[in-house]
Amino acid sequence: MSVASRKRWNEKRNLLRRMAREERTDFIEKPSVPTGEYSAEEIIDLMKNRYSRQLEYENARKLINVTIPIGGPIGIVHFGDPHVDDDGTDWAALERDIRLVQSTEGLYAANIGDTTNNWVGRLGRLYGQQSTTAKQAWILAEWFIKQLSGYWLYLIGGNHDAWSGDGDPLNFITSQVGALYEASEARIGLQFPNGKNIVINARHDFAGGSMWNPAHGPMKAAQLGVRDDVVICGHKHKSGYSPLKDPDSGKVMHCLQVASYKRYDRYAKEKGFRDQSLSPCVITIINPDAVDPVDLIQVFWNPVTAVQYLKMLRKEWNPS
Ligand SMILES: [Fe+2]
Repeated sequence: MSVASRKRWNEKRNLLRRMAREERTDFIEKPSVPTGEYSAEEIIDLMKNRYSRQLEYENARKLINVTIPIGGPIGIVHFGDPHVDDDGTDWAALERDIRLVQSTEGLYAANIGDTTNNWVGRLGRLYGQQSTTAKQAWILAEWFIKQLSGYWLYLIGGNHDAWSGDGDPLNFITSQVGALYEASEARIGLQFPNGKNIVINARHDFAGGSMWNPAHGPMKAAQLGVRDDVVICGHKHKSGYSPLKDPDSGKVMHCLQVASYKRYDRYAKEKGFRDQSLSPCVITIINPDAVDPVDLIQVFWNPVTAVQYLKMLRKEWNPS
């Protein structure tokens, strides 16, 4: 290497060494953009709040007290699965029972669930097998619920209703009329003016079934769970009844399976289910002044007969 070349090579090497030693300070800084996410601490606070709200709700709904605004005997028509938009639904019976509640002093209404067919997802194809549209179904449901505004003791969400998920239109319809609507189950404490308390434990369905006993589910619930005065469910579209005595308290527990206003059912026909429906509804007549526990609650399957009995009891209670 010549002297001149060595000199140029040394100058270049020194330049590179100097550049490597010097620290750059002209960095680009990340612009300050707020994050769209909560911090872990904020998420934990939200979850604690949500849990305490849920806990408050669950504790409150263990027993929901309802004040009965009238003295003396009352009746409750427990409407079995209405399925108001189904072609197999007995609308004449449904309309008759709505009118009976509207016109009978002391008679109230309850709904055990499956207000509409509410076909969703793959089941949506079943709208092709019924004459009413999904829109008409909700028109009928709204009409049904609003007709009994002020008379509802409880409404339960059935499995068909649950298919709506969080957007269940029944939540909005029932809130418009100030009616109690609970998904799947509700335990109602009826508080009578004379101080008598009656508890109704209503679910769309109670777990368990027996080919020999249509009321097996509610009977099992009454014997293994809380011993309530009326234990009632629907879902299976069949009627069943068994009174049981709680040996500890002497209370009579009425275990009821209520059928459905949907009397003709293609699915039941396909599966070969036998007709086990006594009535699309069941009526409990409660006499809070009864002395003997066996007279406290009477069960009827014919709403017209039940109304006659209720009127007789109310006349005896207040002859004027
Ligand atoms: Fe049903």
